Amino acid sequence: MAKLAAVLTLIALLGCAARTCQAEYGNPTPVPSIPSITSPPPPYTPTTPSPPPPYTPTTPSPPPPTPATPSPPPPYIPTTPSPPPPTPATPSPPPPYTPTTPSPPPPIPSPPTKGLVVGYYQQSCPRAEDIVREVVRDASAGIMAGLIRLFFHDCFVRGCDASVLLDQVDPNSPPEKLGVPNLSLRGFEVIDAAKARIEKECGSDVVSCADVLAFAGRDATYFLSNKKVYFNMTAGRYDGLVSFKNETLPNLPPPFATVDQLKANFASKGLTADEMVTLSGAHTIGISHCSSFNSSFSDRLNPSTSDMDPTLMSSLREQCKSDNGTDNTVVQDINTPNKVDNKYYKNVLSHEVLFDSDAALMKADDTSAAVRANAKDNGVWEEKFKAAMVRMGAIEVKTRTDFLDRAPVEIRRNCRVVNSH
Ligand SMILES: *[C@@H]1O[C@H](CO)[C@@H](O)[C@H](O)[C@H]1NC(C)=O
Ligand SMILES: *[C@@H]1O[C@H](CO)[C@@H](O)[C@H](O)[C@H]1NC(C)=O
Ligand SMILES: *[C@@H]1O[C@H](CO)[C@@H](O)[C@H](O)[C@H]1NC(C)=O
Ligand SMILES: *[C@@H]1O[C@H](CO)[C@@H](O)[C@H](O)[C@H]1NC(C)=O
Ligand SMILES: *[C@@H]1O[C@H](CO)[C@@H](O)[C@H](O)[C@H]1NC(C)=O
Repeated sequence: MAKLAAVLTLIALLGCAARTCQAEYGNPTPVPSIPSITSPPPPYTPTTPSPPPPYTPTTPSPPPPTPATPSPPPPYIPTTPSPPPPTPATPSPPPPYTPTTPSPPPPIPSPPTKGLVVGYYQQSCPRAEDIVREVVRDASAGIMAGLIRLFFHDCFVRGCDASVLLDQVDPNSPPEKLGVPNLSLRGFEVIDAAKARIEKECGSDVVSCADVLAFAGRDATYFLSNKKVYFNMTAGRYDGLVSFKNETLPNLPPPFATVDQLKANFASKGLTADEMVTLSGAHTIGISHCSSFNSSFSDRLNPSTSDMDPTLMSSLREQCKSDNGTDNTVVQDINTPNKVDNKYYKNVLSHEVLFDSDAALMKADDTSAAVRANAKDNGVWEEKFKAAMVRMGAIEVKTRTDFLDRAPVEIRRNCRVVNSH
């Protein structure tokens, strides 16, 4: 049973840089906006009566953006990498154009971005982020660490869609939170409290649980770093409708993972080896069950096979000792257990880390170089961590586009159950 410590994760193949997305989201009117940001529009001569450009209606045309909230409805962007260039539905026929040169074909839209943006709730619920921060601020350090892990876990399994928050409803279908790597999941009450306050302030169907969780993970990082790791978290996530326990183990890197397994695991989420090392820095906080490093899978307390520092090893043997079979917990960062800082990397270098997957970072040239770089007290790791958290927060996200596409997404009212219940 692994409490997989921190499981980090990330990816963001589908994400986009905040600025890019903002450009796309910037236009609330039905005026055409071509999602292709980088390529210039094709030259055209509006005067010629030549045939109109091939007009491809976008998918089953989306219903007009729902009116309820004042939030800027993002222009419709198709989610699938499917062929039809998103020709905006304009009230008036697009001007006919004749390419002047034989060459430039109509602009191929850049890969559709499932955009998240900073300040997504600025209009619809301006206090949303403040409320989350206030609730997180009042939590204990241990719960804050749990919130960061909860965010990682959510994003790693099925994307950042708050699936980790769902309670069991169907007795035959246990949710993620009952998965084996569940032992360290904490902080659900904080999410509930923040969400309840937000509902009261802004009403239902406005702020998603997935975004509350992303803000909470960001804010926990902020407080646990003594406000040093401070960054904007993008938002615009929608909540998923399902959660399966059987999807946790295959998606979360186990504490006994080798460096190649870690790389592959993160790559499968669209994250680089460097981001994997950067996010492993989350082991700078939190606690771990002894079974995560002492089990039939992992023999970290065995001096003949483990490279763990002998002092730490004997201390852990003592702390893990149990008369009744209880799986005790120990702190993950023996030096600064409740502080988000780069001490973790120094611990890796001095062999004072718990897991095989921590020690494994020294087993490849690129990752060991990254460990050394992150161990320097020059703020580099902190900057990389901010960026990696945002990238993780974009893993396989569901957005308004999916909602308009009638995908199975929603903005949950109670983070523990889907709305239809
Ligand atoms: C996981 O469990 C769900 C129901 O609980 C089931 O529908 C699905 O097929 C399972 N997936 C795998 C890979 O076993
Ligand atoms: C954790 O998982 C175990 C077994 O998978 C289960 O018995 C336990 O209830 C779970 N704990 C929580 C807090 O969900
Ligand atoms: C967050 O973004 C806003 C603008 O969107 C900017 O003014 C602010 O400085 C940013 N904060 C951080 C911590 O980057
Ligand atoms: C380590 O795990 C083994 C079982 O895999 C157990 O017998 C042993 O007592 C554990 N050691 C400590 C120090 O907990
Ligand atoms: C096992 O022993 C520990 C003390 O070593 C105690 O805290 C714990 O409650 C015990 N658990 C059970 C199930 O007896």
